[in-house]
Amino acid sequence: MVKQKLICQGAEARIILAEKTIIKDRIKKSYRIPELDKKIRISRTKLEKKLLKKASKVINCPSIIESKEEDPMKIKMQYLKGKKLSEHLENLSPKEQKEVCKKIGEAIAKLHDSSIIHGDLTTSNMILVDKKVYFIDFGLGFISARYEDKAVDLHLLKQALEAKHFKKWETLFKAVLKGYSKSKTFKQVLQRLKIVEKRGRYKSKT
Ligand SMILES: Nc1ncnc2c1ncn2[C@@H]1O[C@H](COP(=O)(O)OP(=O)(O)O)[C@@H](O)[C@H]1O
Ligand SMILES: [Mg+2]
Repeated sequence: MVKQKLICQGAEARIILAEKTIIKDRIKKSYRIPELDKKIRISRTKLEKKLLKKASKVINCPSIIESKEEDPMKIKMQYLKGKKLSEHLENLSPKEQKEVCKKIGEAIAKLHDSSIIHGDLTTSNMILVDKKVYFIDFGLGFISARYEDKAVDLHLLKQALEAKHFKKWETLFKAVLKGYSKSKTFKQVLQRLKIVEKRGRYKSKT
């Protein structure tokens, strides 16, 4: 039996480390009707796996480990031995921080150009391995080519930067956009982002 260690217990999943493998196990929500709960967990797991596979063709993310006895509620993937960006970004020099953010923007451009919306772009879902940024947690992701969905994806990252790395968030987000400018639909998404943000400001006043 391989030694297993629980490394994270979130609201949605338990993350178990077993040697060089991560097992993401979607947990039961007892407030849901059991049959429905099972269906939701299976479909979310299936979608996350599909998105991870699709994303790994264009950006850095953990590779999926296929096994014969597949559990429909578990994803087995490569363990990334690195540093979570939410904990490490502040330790980098200002120049390195901007470089990392530009790389993040470039990766989002590639995801969006493949119609992949991450759905939870925060620095807690990014791991720095050497100088490469890996994206994890496609648990809220979906497939869409709409400018609106891409703009909201970016907006969530902006908010996350503001919340976690408050002092420098503007500089950091600027660097993200510099990287993102490589996207085929950069102009259209940026235009949409302005609309999304106006809506947000209007809403917060009411
Ligand atoms: N492949 C991986 N390699 C290393 N750490 C991981 C990996 N997948 C998840 N983790 C760790 O577990 C945490 C939670 O995983 P995540 O997929 O983001 O689940 P949740 O949906 O609960 O946020 C991550 O923030 C990260 O610290
Ligand atoms: Mg997460």
